[in-house]
Amino acid sequence: MSASPAPISGNIPAHVAIIMDGNGRWALKRGLPRLAGHKAGTENLRQIIKACVEFGVKYLTIYAFSTENWGRPQEEVLGLMRILEDVIDRELAELDSQGVQLRHLGQLNRLPAFLQEKVLHAIEATRHNSRLIINIAFNYGGRDEIVHAIQQIIREGIPASEVTPELVSQYLYTAGTPDPDLIIRTSGELRISNFLIWQTAYSEWYVTPTYWPDFDKTEFRKALEEFAQRDRRYGKVNSTEYEENHA
Ligand code: IPE
Ligand code: IPE
Ligand code: MG
Repeated sequence: MSASPAPISGNIPAHVAIIMDGNGRWALKRGLPRLAGHKAGTENLRQIIKACVEFGVKYLTIYAFSTENWGRPQEEVLGLMRILEDVIDRELAELDSQGVQLRHLGQLNRLPAFLQEKVLHAIEATRHNSRLIINIAFNYGGRDEIVHAIQQIIREGIPASEVTPELVSQYLYTAGTPDPDLIIRTSGELRISNFLIWQTAYSEWYVTPTYWPDFDKTEFRKALEEFAQRDRRYGKVNSTEYEENHA
């Protein structure tokens, strides 16, 4: 029997958000259609979800379909919708048994009716779970989210003097969820692509050239280990270093 790896020493991020990128290039490299890359990417999620439960991550947000992804060929868009439908059908019972709660970020009413129903069912079926909360960002855009929040605030007649960062946070799709501690982007791109633009104000970044379907538990662990070494200052100075140098 092989010894289990040492636990990660240091801070485990409470909330990890992942830009699961590189499915298309993963497929291209193998001479496969892009949808095969999306399917492989979905398969890969299973081990990352298990790793989150094992390492004690409490919130996992996954960017699965952006408001800009509607501009892809129709075949790919519909394929991505079908993949989400399939995942819910195949994985819901297992996720529920692992204590996973599913939530959705984005505008649900723009999705095809068959998918809206599935997503609502998955949310309802897992709402009692609390071991790991998974936010599925699907038809999600950061700008759309902020515009939606502003519209709600105005509709409710909230006076301008009461609009604070805390209040705005309560009107986002992520209301009630702590801001992400760690953002992971696979496939090497150095951009945010309209993901959680409000919530990531002080998130730590981890970018790897690995394509999403190949981003395994070992790579995930590496990202968490690197996070544990980060010095998060939030614009302030590190108090221990300051005292040492200004005694
Ligand atoms: C990410 O992989 C998944 C979605 C955006 C739906 P891509 O499809 O963007 O893969 P690349 O970037 O083309 O390789
Ligand atoms: C971001 O990836 C969206 C998702 C991972 C769902 P994209 O591949 O759509 O982003 P760009 O086009 O490289 O910025
Ligand atoms: Mg991409």
